[in-house]
Amino acid sequence: EAAEKGGYEHFMIKEIYEQPKAVRETMTSRVAKDNSGITFEELNWTKDDVSPIKKIAIIACGTAYHAGIVGKYLIENLSRIPVEVDVASEFRYRSPLIDEQTLAIVISQSGETLDTLAALKEAKKLGARTLAVTNVVGSSIARDSDQVIYTWAGPEIAVASTKAYTTQLVVMAMLAIYMGAIKGTLTTDKVQALCQALRELPAQAYEVLEDVEPIKTFAQQYGFNEDVFFIGRSLDYAVALEGSLKLKEISYIHAEAYAAGELKHGTLALIIEGVPVIALATQQDVYEKTLSNIKEVKARDAVVIGLGLKGDQQLEKYVDHTIFIPATNKFLTPILSVIPLQLLAYYAAVTRGCDVDKPRNLAKSVTVE
Ligand code: G6P
Repeated sequence: EAAEKGGYEHFMIKEIYEQPKAVRETMTSRVAKDNSGITFEELNWTKDDVSPIKKIAIIACGTAYHAGIVGKYLIENLSRIPVEVDVASEFRYRSPLIDEQTLAIVISQSGETLDTLAALKEAKKLGARTLAVTNVVGSSIARDSDQVIYTWAGPEIAVASTKAYTTQLVVMAMLAIYMGAIKGTLTTDKVQALCQALRELPAQAYEVLEDVEPIKTFAQQYGFNEDVFFIGRSLDYAVALEGSLKLKEISYIHAEAYAAGELKHGTLALIIEGVPVIALATQQDVYEKTLSNIKEVKARDAVVIGLGLKGDQQLEKYVDHTIFIPATNKFLTPILSVIPLQLLAYYAAVTRGCDVDKPRNLAKSVTVE
C-alpha cells in the first residue's frame, strides 16, 4: 500500500496532487490545440442531436451531485438549455417530468452507485436519452447508458472524492461549450476564450497546490472548532457545498454551506464570536453582494477566511485571512477554487487524527439503497 501511495501519507493527498494531471488528461483530444472548439468523438453530435433536447436532467449522489450543480450553471449559461439537478435517491420518488425530449446525464465516479443506476433506469423507462459521465470504464452505469463520457482521472482510492470531482467539472464545462457551439449560443470568440482558459487550468491547479502552507496553518488553527460555515454566491455557492461536504466527511466537523444571500433567513442566528466562516468571493458579477454578506458575519465577530482571485486588493480589508487562486474564466473557477477547500479538509482531518482515507461509516461506492 505504501508503494501505491507513491510517497504520500494518504491516498487523498496523493489524489489532490494528481489533479493537474487528471484535468489535463480529461481534456486531451477533446479541447482543440488551436482553441477552435471541443470534440467528443464518443458523442459525435450534430445540430440534429442537440436541437431536440428541451431539458436536461442531471442525476448523481454526493460529490458527483455537486459537480451536477456546477453543470447546471454552465449548461444553462453557455448552451441555454434548461437543466434540473437531482440527488439520485430523490429522483425516482418525485414523478419526474421526463420524456423523449429530455437528456438525462448521470454522473458517477465509480459507475456503480445503486441509487444513480436505478435513477438512470427510471429515466430510460420514461423515454429519456441517457449520457453517463463516469471514471470507470465498463462500469454498470457506463454500460446501461446510451452514451458515455469518461473522466480520465485515474483510479480514485480515498473515500472522499477529489480528482474525480475536478474532472467531472472539466467534462461539464466541455459539454456546455460543445452544445453551445453546436446550437450557436456561443460565438467563435467565446469558444476560443473558453478553450484557451481550459488549457491553462492544469498549470493553474499546480500553482494552487504550491501554496499550501497558509492552508495548513488555518487547518491547525481552526481544526478543533465544532462548526464551520461556507458561504458564496452562484458558482461559489456550488463550490461551498463541496467544500463543506469534504470537511464533514473526513474531519467530522459540522460544516454547512449557505448561499450567502440566504444567511439572513436563518443561519445568521448561528454566527457568533469566533465561528469560522469560509467566504468564497471569486465571482465578479456578485462580488459586491458577497462582500456585504461578509460584513454581516464580521459584524457578529465570526472569523472569516476569504477565498478570492489573485490581484483582488479589496478582500483582505474585510476578512481575517485570505486564500488566493489564479484568475480564470468565471465558468471555470470552481475547478481551481475547490482545491484549497480539499486541502483545508485534509489538513483539518490530519490535525484531528482522523482516518483520512477511510472515514467512519462511509464507503467509496455505495451499492445499497
Ligand atoms: C459515496 C462516496 C462519495 C461519492 C458518492 C457518489 O458516498 O463516499 O465520495 O461522491 O458515493 O459516488 P459515485 O461513485 O457515484 O460518484
